[in-house]
Amino acid sequence: MLQLKTLVTDKVEEAAGLLAAGQLVIFPTETVYGLGADATNPEAVSRIFWAKQRPADNPLIVHIWDYAQVEQLAHSVPDYARALMDEFFPGPLTILLPKTAAIPAITTAGSDKVCLRMPSLPLALALLKAAGRPIAAPSANISGRPSPTRWQDCLEDMEGRVAAILTGPEASHGLESTIVDCSGPRPILLRPGAITLEQLTLVAPGIGVVRPGQGGPVTPGMKYRHYAPQARVLLLPPGELPVTSIENTAYIGLTPPAFKPTYSLIASSPEDYARQLFAFFRECDRRGLSFIYAEPIAPTGLGRALMNRLYKAMGE
Ligand code: TXA
Ligand code: MG
Repeated sequence: MLQLKTLVTDKVEEAAGLLAAGQLVIFPTETVYGLGADATNPEAVSRIFWAKQRPADNPLIVHIWDYAQVEQLAHSVPDYARALMDEFFPGPLTILLPKTAAIPAITTAGSDKVCLRMPSLPLALALLKAAGRPIAAPSANISGRPSPTRWQDCLEDMEGRVAAILTGPEASHGLESTIVDCSGPRPILLRPGAITLEQLTLVAPGIGVVRPGQGGPVTPGMKYRHYAPQARVLLLPPGELPVTSIENTAYIGLTPPAFKPTYSLIASSPEDYARQLFAFFRECDRRGLSFIYAEPIAPTGLGRALMNRLYKAMGE
């Protein structure tokens, strides 16, 4: 397999030059790290699918830094989508709209719709602006592994597969962006994330929700197993005891467990739980642990996104 020398840099201009030249660059955002390529260059985009071992039918989110790009890359933008962008761009919201010819078919895996996101992390915006083109970027993990929230985790998955990693801070949200389908008469929440359904509802009161198995539009990515550590993930409500042996067992939650795990993390809030979840999964894999018990939390607010990721990690 092709091996590249992966440059680890904190220089935005250097990383931007590589993106403009059609190379792959991993970069920080406020949600998770992204694996970027020029979204308008089919050859560059094909490298993303190769590096990530991503199925070719799973489309990519296109990252922008300026509102004017929405009109260049998408059309038929409803008023409710403009209201959502006014409120939540830049930030952890992605919107799905009908695409223009500026986006090649490979970027959207053949779909006539494109996902657009304007990240809020200043370093990410600076990189996009310096590269001067929309950047396609999935999470910078090998397909199926937990999304990386630190540049060191990206190196673990992607060294030798990308031209560069732009180093930055640990992701402040730690879960991928909220995705809303804005291509129909009313908005539909496709993937819960840091922007909660409650926040979306205040701006777009008619918003609908897709539940897996109910039919209707879902993101192609939702059919794949995701966010999964090698260990088996099981839910453990407060006060309950594990159903497996407690050897080689980890625990993550808000409440201290009723047993003594090999390795544990007690989060201080749902936000802290979300921020640390994927890095915790990766640490459990490094330690070779067999079971991870996770405390379930109420599926409201950020809890909806957190429980979605826990269920995915359990293979559901
Ligand atoms: O926070 C995030 O969104 C991160 C950072 C890097 O921006 N990106 C991210 O990308 O999570 P990815 O590829 O790991 O997840 C994108 C999801 C997938 O489930 C994909 O199927 C869906 O978005 N998606 C992308 N484009 C789509 C399209 N045109 N139609 C339907 N779903 C789409
Ligand atoms: Mg991903």
